[in-house]
Amino acid sequence: MKVLLIGAGGTLGSAVRGALLARGHEVVGVGRSSGDVIADVTDPEAVARMYAQVGEVDAVAVAAGEAVFKPLDQLTAQDFAATLRGKALSQVDVVRQGVPHLTSTGSFTLISGVLTDQPIVAGAAAATANGAIEAFARAAAIELPPQRINVVSPTVFEESLPSYGSFFPGMEAVPVARAATAYVRSIEGAQTGQVYRLH
Ligand SMILES: NC(=O)c1ccc[n+]([C@@H]2O[C@H](COP(=O)([O-])OP(=O)(O)OC[C@H]3O[C@@H](n4cnc5c(N)ncnc54)[C@H](OP(=O)(O)O)[C@@H]3O)[C@@H](O)[C@H]2O)c1
Repeated sequence: MKVLLIGAGGTLGSAVRGALLARGHEVVGVGRSSGDVIADVTDPEAVARMYAQVGEVDAVAVAAGEAVFKPLDQLTAQDFAATLRGKALSQVDVVRQGVPHLTSTGSFTLISGVLTDQPIVAGAAAATANGAIEAFARAAAIELPPQRINVVSPTVFEESLPSYGSFFPGMEAVPVARAATAYVRSIEGAQTGQVYRLH
């Protein structure tokens, strides 16, 4: 399959890219600063240019997304707006604009995270965005068939503990390879409207 992978150069994206390549898929990687295609998916016009450049694909997978982490009493309206744009609306736009560029039985795989279900201090904006993504995917799944859509919801990755571990006291981490396996399941499988929880 030809897979468009947004965030292919990151911790998660590199693992997903490796897993897909190992299974014989072609991966077209997207990032803001590096990749086969340069695009910032928070910009709807950049998303349109990305799809115009790439042509038809069999799967679209997102392994990107940025959120503001601050205690609730310090989170501003702008922080919530930036997080919703950076993590949720960007992915909604990738799906909304991607439908005509995806093969008729192709799939979208989005990324949320553990915070939807298990809150942490300073995670309210990220949790809000993650919840939006999961609700969107469930809703889109009843209108997209025969195209499919699923979400991968991992807890913190073992590989990210040096950076984010202090935010997740007492919470188990998973190897990023497990999240990559869930992307393979979404892309090669037959399910839709699922949230694959790795926590
Ligand atoms: N790390 C964890 O423990 C963990 C756990 C659960 C969920 N997640 C979620 O998984 C996703 C990826 O996390 P990560 O830790 O792998 O992040 P990361 O290492 O920072 O990688 C993110 C990748 O996405 C690209 N990117 C970021 N924003 C983009 C945009 N607007 N448009 C296009 N490309 C963009 C980045 O490249 P450029 O900078 O070149 O754009 C980078 O290659 C995030 O949504 C995160 O919330 C992460």
